[in-house]
Amino acid sequence: MSKQEITAIRGPVLTFTGDAFVKGVKDTLVYEPDAIIAMHQGAITHFGPADTVAKNLPVDLMVKDYGKDALIMPGFIDTHVHYPQTQIIGSYGEQLIDWLHKYAFAAEQQFADKSHAKGVAKVFLQECLRAGTTTASVYCTVHPQSVDAFFEEADALNMRMIAGKVMMDRNAPAALTDTPQQSFNDSQRLIDRWHNHGRQLYSVTPRFAPTSSPEQMVMAAALWQQNPGTYLQSHLSENKAEIDWVKSLYPNSSGYLDVYDQHQLLGSRAIYGHGVWLTEEELQRCHDTGTSIAHCPTSNQFLGSGLFNLANAKQATRPVKVGLGTDIGAGTSFSMLQTLNETYKVAQLTGNPLSAELAFYLATRGSAEALYLQDKVGSIAPGMEADLVVLDMKSTPIISYRMQFCDSFAEALFLQMTLGDDRAVQATYIAGNCLYQRNS
Ligand code: GUN
Ligand code: ZN
Repeated sequence: MSKQEITAIRGPVLTFTGDAFVKGVKDTLVYEPDAIIAMHQGAITHFGPADTVAKNLPVDLMVKDYGKDALIMPGFIDTHVHYPQTQIIGSYGEQLIDWLHKYAFAAEQQFADKSHAKGVAKVFLQECLRAGTTTASVYCTVHPQSVDAFFEEADALNMRMIAGKVMMDRNAPAALTDTPQQSFNDSQRLIDRWHNHGRQLYSVTPRFAPTSSPEQMVMAAALWQQNPGTYLQSHLSENKAEIDWVKSLYPNSSGYLDVYDQHQLLGSRAIYGHGVWLTEEELQRCHDTGTSIAHCPTSNQFLGSGLFNLANAKQATRPVKVGLGTDIGAGTSFSMLQTLNETYKVAQLTGNPLSAELAFYLATRGSAEALYLQDKVGSIAPGMEADLVVLDMKSTPIISYRMQFCDSFAEALFLQMTLGDDRAVQATYIAGNCLYQRNS
């Protein structure tokens, strides 16, 4: 390879090699205080101590040195987010069902207009880059054009994104409902167009049990089964009134998760948002089937939904795959650092402080594992896709001041998730290209 085609960056690096909850932090955390990462044709080719890697690179290659106050990590991964709700982030006063009707469904109707959808998709993806988020599992709206708009924009940036058309045939405004057959046909056309197109991946997206009839759930399962490698995303056990509603709509199911289970909607590459109120039996079933939960702490607090018990979900005897989600627009920040801040506080309220190491694992490799993408993204190693975030460990005056009193790397890392936000993101690399640079 010629040196013009190689990008190389230098600085402290943090990454994980496996499940830090299951295998332990000591055996999975890699911290290299002065590393070089080289990238070629979208993939990482070299990673290791700077003096070792430098010997294997062309001698006159320009290496961008971010310095000792940086921290280079795999790009953050958001396992649950609604791009059409970018325009209603921070909407006051309601809990889940009323919030959906008053704000979310009102905004989503505007996505019948593809040019509106394109505009919002652009803002959303730029906010992801500013936050250092390089992959997300994204809900579009019921309109197929909202999916085309999103994938066209994500593909133009070459970001690895998972997304799908919301399927919704009841309990929503007429302008936002489809039918089982129409949702099947539209979704299949979108799968044919977008699944594995470049870095794009399709997720079959029945919004949640209350807005899909049993007939539509059957269609969702057929789409998911007939299109290998596609994803399945929905919502689960977020709010107590929602759970009661699901019981009344599906009286023959033993609980909320069982509605999805009875329709063959659990398994690898199924990701359910929230899961705040899951029972022990339901957690066991998630573990047994490899079903993932997207923990969305800023949203769960904003809507007053409840406190997800992360430590319980990750119990060593039956660990459930858990990723982190911003759940914009019920969530209140695109920043995964701020999402970690709230993850920590929610963990405290459930009686278990979350270490900084486990938190950063969750935001990167943990979320990649929840999305079954750990062979492609979420870690820094040769062969992995070259999606990176470069943090500035002294991004504000108070962080810079407080850093003087840190005695360990873990303490410095904890500060970043407690006080840091989008200002801490210096640069974001997508497939080896720097697509975001702070202050530029
Ligand atoms: N449940 C069903 N739809 C939604 C949504 O858009 N946001 C949240 N937070 N929960 C949901
Ligand atoms: Zn959601």
